[in-house]
Amino acid sequence: AKILLLHGPNLNLLGQRETDIYGDLSLDAINKSAQKQVTDAKIEFATHQSNSESALVEIIQQAKADKVSLIVINPAAYTHTSVAIRDALLAVDIPFIEVHLSNPHRREPFRHHSYFSDVAEAVVAGFGADSYRYALDAAINIITKKS
Ligand code: DQA
Repeated sequence: AKILLLHGPNLNLLGQRETDIYGDLSLDAINKSAQKQVTDAKIEFATHQSNSESALVEIIQQAKADKVSLIVINPAAYTHTSVAIRDALLAVDIPFIEVHLSNPHRREPFRHHSYFSDVAEAVVAGFGADSYRYALDAAINIITKKS
């Protein structure tokens, strides 16, 4: 079994970017604890970040060939805009959990709509970097129950 953790645009700036909203942890620190959490559960782990919508589509298409069992994705700003990334996830037919550091529903109205939530297994939002930990915990449970 394998979990792919995907990060969308501007998340490479975590720890420097709007820290009152997104917190002090760098993406590297988040990925390191994610890797430990998943591999401790004897599940393979891979992660990517991209600022480019087309790169994210390519990575999701590749996930099928790489036999990824579940995707945990923070689509960041593409949450609110990207039919292409939604379609890629539906095309590969790999279950996914949508994650956000902030709770988009308590922010600007344009963040209230997600192109992902209605087709996601689940959505975890508003816990800062812990959102990833909770989502990965759920991902591990889903995979462990299946196998
Ligand atoms: C985000 C919320 C999005 O609205 C925003 O564009 C982001 C990050 C979050 O993790 O809280 O870049 O996905």
